[in-house]
Amino acid sequence: MQEAFSELLTYYQTIYDLGKAAAVLNWDRETYMPRGGTRARADQLSTLARLIHERVTSPKMGELLEKVLPWAREQGEDSFEYGVVRLLKRRYDRQVKVPADLVEAMSRAASKGHETWLLARKEKNFAPFAPALEELVRLRKDYADALGWEERRYDALLDQVEPGITSRWLDQFFAELREGLVPLVQAVSERRDRVKDDVLHQHWPEDKQWQLTLQAVEAIGYDLSRGRQDRSVHPFTTAFSPDDVRITTRVDEHFFSAAFFASLHEAGHALYGQGIPQKFYRTPLDGGSSGGVHESQSRMWENVVGRSLAFWEFFFPKLKEMFPSQTEGVTVEDWYRAVNKSQPSLIRVEADELTYNLHIMVRYELEQDLFADRLQVKDLPEAWNEKMKSYLGITPPDDLEGVLQDIHWSGGGFGSFPSYALGNVIAGQIWETVKEAQPGIEEEMRRGLFGTLLQWTREKIHRHGAQYDPLDLVQRATGKPLSTEPYLSYIRQKFSHLYGL
Ligand code: CO
Repeated sequence: MQEAFSELLTYYQTIYDLGKAAAVLNWDRETYMPRGGTRARADQLSTLARLIHERVTSPKMGELLEKVLPWAREQGEDSFEYGVVRLLKRRYDRQVKVPADLVEAMSRAASKGHETWLLARKEKNFAPFAPALEELVRLRKDYADALGWEERRYDALLDQVEPGITSRWLDQFFAELREGLVPLVQAVSERRDRVKDDVLHQHWPEDKQWQLTLQAVEAIGYDLSRGRQDRSVHPFTTAFSPDDVRITTRVDEHFFSAAFFASLHEAGHALYGQGIPQKFYRTPLDGGSSGGVHESQSRMWENVVGRSLAFWEFFFPKLKEMFPSQTEGVTVEDWYRAVNKSQPSLIRVEADELTYNLHIMVRYELEQDLFADRLQVKDLPEAWNEKMKSYLGITPPDDLEGVLQDIHWSGGGFGSFPSYALGNVIAGQIWETVKEAQPGIEEEMRRGLFGTLLQWTREKIHRHGAQYDPLDLVQRATGKPLSTEPYLSYIRQKFSHLYGL
C-alpha cells in the first residue's frame, strides 16, 4: 500500500510542477510582460490548464485514489497520508465533473477578461469589459452547475475557496458584522475630524518608499533569500515552492499607505507560504487551508500589527530617518492616528480597517445576485454604485474607482471576496488567543521583536499546510469555534479609543 501511495505522490508531482509553472507565467504577466505577450501567454496558460485538468481527472488518478483511500483513512485524520489523499480525492471528485473544454474555455475567457479589464480601466469605463465579463459569468454558472450544488449555485463556487462554508452560514456571518460595524462606522463618521491624516498625503518619493517597504517586510520575518518584491497593478503573493514565495506592491507617490500596507499585507501571505513544511513540497498539502485563513495572516500583519501603536513605536524612527522632511514635527501618536483614520472611501484595498468589511459586503451581495440570476452584468456598474451609496454613503465618480477596481472578476474569480472578511475575523480570534497566551507580546513588538507571533502562527497554522479545512483549523488553533466576537470587540476597542467614543 505504501508503494501505491508513493506512486500517487509521484504522479501528483507533475501536476504540482505544471501548476507552479502556470504560476510563474501568471506572475510574469502581472509584472514584466509587455502587452504584446498577451496572446501567446493566453495560449500557454490554457495549455497548462488543460494538461493539469487531464491529469487530475485521469482514470489512473481515480484508480490510485480508490486503492489507497481506505488505507490512508486508517492512518488517522491527522496523518500526512490522509491529508494528501483527502485533498486529491476532493479535487478529483470535483474536477471529474467538469468537461475539459469548459476548463479551457474558462482559462481563455480569463485571459480575455484580464486584457479587456486593463483596457476598460484605462478608459475608466465598464463598457469595453462587459462582453468578456458576461462570458466569464456564463462559464462560471456552467461550472457551478457541473460541480453541483444544493441550496444556491453560489455555494459551489464558495466551496472551492472556503471548503465547508455555505451561503447560509455567510449570510449569518455578514449579518453579525453589519450589526456590529454599522453603528460604529456611523459614530466614527460623526467625529471624523478628530483624526487627521494629512501627513500621509504628501510627496513620498518612490525609491525611498520602496526601500522602506523592504525594511518593513524583512523586520516582520519575510525571508528575501526565498522571496522578492516587484511592482504590479494589483498587489498579490504567489508561491512557486516554500522556498520561492514572491510579493508585489504598487507605489503611490502622493499617498504613503498604498505601498507600505500593501507590502505588509502581501508579506503576511508570504510568511504563510514560507512557513509550509519542507515535507509538503510537491504535495497537495503545500498551500494554505483556504483563502480566508490566508487572508487572516495578511490582515494580521497589515492591520493588527502594522497599524498598532506598538509597531510604530519600533518603526517610526526608521520612517523619520528616511523621510525627515515629511515627518518633521510629527509624533508617533500623530502617525499612529493618521494610519488609522477611518472614513468611507472608494477603493477596497486602501480602505481602513473599520470600513473594509462594508466593501466586501457590496461584492458579496452583487455576486449572490449575479449567480442567482437576479442581476445582469450590464447593470453591474449601477448596482455597484447604489450599494456603495447605501453602505458607505459615497458614489464613485467613474467605473475605475467603482466596479473596475478589483482584478478578481476579470479572471472569473467569483466567490473569493468573502475570504477577506473571514480573514479579518479569523485574525481577530487568533490575536485574542495569542495575547492571552503571551501577555508580553506588545512589549516585544515595541522593541521590534515579532518572533512570538510568527512562531505561534508557524506552529498552529502554517505547519499544517492544507491539512485542515478553515473552520476546523481555527477550532484547532484557537480552541474555539470561529466567532465574530473577538474581531468586533478588538475593532470596537481600537476605534472607540481613537475617536474618543
Ligand atoms: Co490578501
